[in-house]
Amino acid sequence: MVPSTTPKPAPPPPVAAASAPQPRHMFVFGAGFVGRYVSERLLAQGWQVSGTCTSAAKKRELEALGMCASVFDATESNLADLQSLQCATHLLVSIPPILGIGDPLLNLNEDLKRTLSHGNVQWLCYLSSTSVYGDCGGALVDEDHVVNPKSESAKLRHTAEKGWLNLIDDPDLSASILRLGGIYGPGRSALDTLVKSNSLSQRQKLRESKQYTARIHVADIYQAILASMSIRCARKIFNVVDDDPAPRAEVFAFARSLIERRYPDLITEPIDVNSTGFDSQVRIIPAKKRVSNARLKQELGVELLHPTYRSGLQSILDSWQAESKLPDRNR
Ligand SMILES: NC(=O)c1ccc[n+]([C@@H]2O[C@H](COP(=O)([O-])OP(=O)(O)OC[C@H]3O[C@@H](n4cnc5c(N)ncnc54)[C@H](OP(=O)(O)O)[C@@H]3O)[C@@H](O)[C@H]2O)c1
Repeated sequence: MVPSTTPKPAPPPPVAAASAPQPRHMFVFGAGFVGRYVSERLLAQGWQVSGTCTSAAKKRELEALGMCASVFDATESNLADLQSLQCATHLLVSIPPILGIGDPLLNLNEDLKRTLSHGNVQWLCYLSSTSVYGDCGGALVDEDHVVNPKSESAKLRHTAEKGWLNLIDDPDLSASILRLGGIYGPGRSALDTLVKSNSLSQRQKLRESKQYTARIHVADIYQAILASMSIRCARKIFNVVDDDPAPRAEVFAFARSLIERRYPDLITEPIDVNSTGFDSQVRIIPAKKRVSNARLKQELGVELLHPTYRSGLQSILDSWQAESKLPDRNR
């Protein structure tokens, strides 16, 4: 009798090199507040992350996070110097337009096109601003609303949006524009402004007192970015704002009440009406637009972690306590 033989399991089919999963590699042009937040989280998810900044000190900070960082000034550096750009699969553009110049990256048009079309980029996201809508007479504006940019920077921003959307004519490239409201998060919020207000220079105070009627917590920007990777965006625009476009004075009053409740002696300086927006005139300026986030929720499926500044600020205050660390007044 011939002993029965157990058939050997078939060897696994050879894995074709072409079908091996490509390592995900994010390249961030302008690893500032949002870029760095996103990078840290992607690194924790196992991504490779590269990015640019404009100083050697910031480069060291980015490298300490685990990024491959390059000092790069888009007005004078060469794209060819950014070797990791060739390996990137994802591209986040966070460098703002410059007055009198426009989008400094788009000015490198031919180089940029050549670099991107010879590389591996399959996803591109340009961080824009709700400022492109301009004054819409208080209307609720969605992404199809006619834009009416008034300031020079808003006009440049709108031009930059069009430039990024039209840059590469590749149907396989998923490209989107995120129009962000006023960005806040850990290290940049009304809470931080109040705590640091003793030591901020007048210029810094003015910068921090920009008026926004729409806001967004950086954690929700990160959510929107991740969600936009999960669908194929054929050159689509998304507003990224929360549900609660409150006046600035209201936000600061709430921030102050949060701090005073937990750290009664922390704010010693009386509020400077010019630096924190507690100006009665500010309160009566009607909103120039209300920005709709319906597309963000419906098409990207984003459920906001912080639908209102209240939960966003509370979470920042809680993080101070959890980390036993108050904002550094000297930064
Ligand atoms: N702040 C807001 O409330 C707000 C609201 C809506 C939209 N936005 C826009 O959303 C984007 C992300 O915001 P963010 O707050 O993360 O911005 P951010 O912190 O100011 O970061 C901007 C990044 O661009 C880099 N950069 C600036 N000029 C450059 C140049 N000439 N060449 C190369 N790099 C340059 C900066 O370099 P360094 O790191 O060396 O400084 C930084 O990494 C920006 O485009 C911003 O304008 C901001």
